Amino acid sequence: MPDHYAVIGNPIAHSKSPWIHAEFSRQTGQDMCYEAMLAPLDGFHVAVTHFRQRGGKGMNVTVPFKPEAYAISHRLTERAHAAQAVNTLTFADDEIFGDNTDGVGLMRDILFNLGFSITAKRVLLMGAGGAARGVVLPLLEHAPCILVVANRTRRKADELQQQFSHRGNIASVDYADLRGEKFDLVINATSAGLHGQLPVLPPDIFARESMAYDMVYGDDRSVFLQFAQQHGAGLLADGIGMLVEQAAESFFQWRGVRPVTEPVIEMLRPGRRSSSVPA
Ligand code: ATR
Repeated sequence: MPDHYAVIGNPIAHSKSPWIHAEFSRQTGQDMCYEAMLAPLDGFHVAVTHFRQRGGKGMNVTVPFKPEAYAISHRLTERAHAAQAVNTLTFADDEIFGDNTDGVGLMRDILFNLGFSITAKRVLLMGAGGAARGVVLPLLEHAPCILVVANRTRRKADELQQQFSHRGNIASVDYADLRGEKFDLVINATSAGLHGQLPVLPPDIFARESMAYDMVYGDDRSVFLQFAQQHGAGLLADGIGMLVEQAAESFFQWRGVRPVTEPVIEMLRPGRRSSSVPA
């Protein structure tokens, strides 16, 4: 019997994780299977319990269940604790072990795949929700000159600043405070783009060497990346690389083998995508 894994979320039909993990297991010769699992909005814990009872070894957790996965974990990594959210569950004996691989996935994509150093750079993080919280500590660990968190609801940005101020140089602002500022790296961790919206950003925050990174991905260039390109950002990246890298880190936690991510990222690019990849 192959070892059994799943990604759980709601909605889940368009998740690329089953395809990504199938590629990883094929590449590394691991005997495992990985499925997508839809849980009712009020049925996360029950679904996880059933999966464990059937012998499941681990799960990836996606929207909206990451905070609940954090709550049911018996042990947490430091990065999951900092994020207050779990995207990787590992089941061992009677324990649930919770990790969060989103931040390290973002870092690997920016540092290694895109070849962009964060150290001593001015970094702007847009958003202060779950997605932003998961990447603050990994960003600070790479010692930017400053990490500025901007959020529509200022209080949430202030909370992140207070939580992480002992880990590096971090500030919280309103979007309006960004006038006249320039950043080397601007990361969009808001969900505004999912509704075709964009926080009100001053147009002159990018320099020609600046990178604009949207944690969201899609076939079309996001509103944020369009804005960044129009206003002079020289480097644009969407979240496909982060998606594959966070999956690779989960895979490594479970199987102890690190898959090669580059060909998998390439295969997910629009235009390169094979028919077996979910749209
Ligand atoms: P996620 O888990 O995807 O981060 P979330 O916790 O609901 O989801 O956070 C969504 C983030 O996107 C928040 O920072 C939110 O700003 P608020 O805290 O002010 O709600 C931000 N966001 C969503 N829509 C936005 C919009 N139209 N303009 C600016 N920010 C937006």
